[in-house]
Amino acid sequence: MIDEAATDFEAVHGGRPTGVWAAPGRVNLIGEHTDYNAGFVLPIALPQTTRVAARRREDGRLRLYSAQGDGTITDLPLDGLAPGVTAGWAGYPAGVFWALAEAGHPVGGADLSVSSDVPAGAGLSSSAALECATAAALNDLYGLGLSAPELALIAQRAENAFVGVPCGAMDQMASACCTGGSALFLDTRTLEQRHVPLDLAAAGLRLLVIDTRVKHDLGDGAYATLRAGCERAAGLLGLPALRDLGPADLAAAVDRLPGELGPLVRHVVTENQRVTETVDHLVRGEIAALGPVLTAGHASLREDYQVSCPETDLAVETAVAAGALGARMTGGGFGGSVIALVEAARLAGVSDAVRAAFRSAGFAAPVVFTAVPSAGVRRLA
Ligand code: GLA
Repeated sequence: MIDEAATDFEAVHGGRPTGVWAAPGRVNLIGEHTDYNAGFVLPIALPQTTRVAARRREDGRLRLYSAQGDGTITDLPLDGLAPGVTAGWAGYPAGVFWALAEAGHPVGGADLSVSSDVPAGAGLSSSAALECATAAALNDLYGLGLSAPELALIAQRAENAFVGVPCGAMDQMASACCTGGSALFLDTRTLEQRHVPLDLAAAGLRLLVIDTRVKHDLGDGAYATLRAGCERAAGLLGLPALRDLGPADLAAAVDRLPGELGPLVRHVVTENQRVTETVDHLVRGEIAALGPVLTAGHASLREDYQVSCPETDLAVETAVAAGALGARMTGGGFGGSVIALVEAARLAGVSDAVRAAFRSAGFAAPVVFTAVPSAGVRRLA
């Protein structure tokens, strides 16, 4: 698997790549729709990665190939590269080149070959993985000397300004900065990070990921509308961001806001609290105590933020009814994946119950796997 990008590289571009870089997808334990409100998040990196085999080119061209693409090479001149010149998967690596150049980094052309086992459209940050692996490759090939958080911000800029999705920094920071065996507690305002140990196996627990196969698309406008609603609410409250609203002032703030904004604000304020509560539990070694916090987070996303869907709701309800300690949708919503915290002995029962419930409801079969906190972006070869 690791070598697929390198093998393809030789077949497609000819000769050996200079190196192979890998960046993971992520699941977010808790802290959803808080990152563009300057709040807190707590993601882990997945074992699944996107690999980029790469080599410099001296003629100012980008030649991009993906094993998951349509079999063709996207060939772009760096000169004149701008948002809108390419669509589809190639927009992510091209956007990283563009963001680096725009930030003044001396980056030139490259041959790239991409291979990934991060499911696309599953809310598991396949796009951040592709961006971060590309950014790490260019960082090394052109000796840019950027740190992992700096690479993440370049990747986020690519997604915001080149691909056109107004996401926060969580996914790219997770893909770039996570470490194995830990969750990443990130303050998205200061970018201060703390690696909080999360040894699920030692606690007899597993983190089940249920990909509902309902493809989410953050580019379709709903995400941007929610973000704009939060920013409008913060403006009306006279705050720099919703992060600055404390729980004690929540009820009064909701009373002051137009009806449609109150629930958004309530979700963000309570979700930030759930992140710090979760970190407190982890620090005390109380991993099982996360369960009810996760389930409360899902209720907030379903009722206040309204980003769940029948498939994610059914996965959460069924997992909890079958004995999971807690469950919630993870990522932006409108489909995507659910996580469930499960005692090891109940893993098969919970997985089977979710599959059966999806069958009875006439939904597509979900893809179910367990996740362990894994490493962020790295060079493989
Ligand atoms: C998507 C975005 C992130 C974040 C989540 C919701 O994954 O890319 O920046 O906003 O949704 O928490």
